[in-house]
Amino acid sequence: MNKYLVIGNPIDHSLSPKLQNYWLKENNIDATYDKIKLEDYEIKSFILDIKKQKIAGCNVTVPFKKTVIPFLDKLSPEADQTQSVNTITFDNGDLVGHNTDIAGFDAAIKKLNFSLKGKRVLILGAGGVVSSIILALKNMLVQEITISNRTREKAENLRVLFNNLKVLEWGKLIDFDMIINATSLGLNNEKINLDFSTLGKNKLFYDVIYNPQETHFLKLGKESGNIIENGKNMFIYQALEAFKLWHKIEPKVNEETLRILDDD
Ligand code: ATR
Repeated sequence: MNKYLVIGNPIDHSLSPKLQNYWLKENNIDATYDKIKLEDYEIKSFILDIKKQKIAGCNVTVPFKKTVIPFLDKLSPEADQTQSVNTITFDNGDLVGHNTDIAGFDAAIKKLNFSLKGKRVLILGAGGVVSSIILALKNMLVQEITISNRTREKAENLRVLFNNLKVLEWGKLIDFDMIINATSLGLNNEKINLDFSTLGKNKLFYDVIYNPQETHFLKLGKESGNIIENGKNMFIYQALEAFKLWHKIEPKVNEETLRILDDD
């Protein structure tokens, strides 16, 4: 039976097995999907197990999206551009790294009908998922992307991958049409110390976190009259794209899909 896994550290919180196993069952595919916590030194032999086809394929989450790259034979253009891999397939003898976070973010924004063409976007954070978000935003033809991160150097490093990025000191605010919380602040109800109350209304507040459903950041956005969206659809659609790569079938996203993720 084909075995799929998601690797990360920590990994306990991952809802990928619930979603992927639900879709496997729905589509009568005889395979399993599990999660495994790895350490850095274990990555190489894990990836080689895919090459030996002991494992059929995997998803990759924090903090390994970049770590896996040297062990792969090929990268999709998106994975190469972002230097971030969240899905690994085995195609004609080659280990291939893909990035489905970009399509996940894109699908989530399309569902909102909020056009970002020519708009200004402020991103808080510079962690693993941010290069994917930047590429998706560039494809949407946004006018300006500004990154603000506690460790400024990590924001500066993103300029190596993308030109025209602006960097803003952590704790400062500029005007924007969309603001994205891509930090882990909010996972444990920690607060983001920024005052959004004077910026006006009808902007888009987006949080990559979806558990809790409404972080303090999204609550602040809502209170000051803005549109809010959490990371749930991005999570679902990155998983959907990975499923398509492995099984060549597009799984359904319906009420039941949303419900199984709410159960937690
Ligand atoms: P990684 O950085 O390993 O890819 P991540 O979960 O993808 O991990 O990213 C965590 C993000 O949340 C980072 O941007 C981090 O900022 P630093 O680069 O300065 O570490 C940010 N973050 C986490 N805790 C934070 C805090 N208490 N205040 C501000 N930013 C924080």
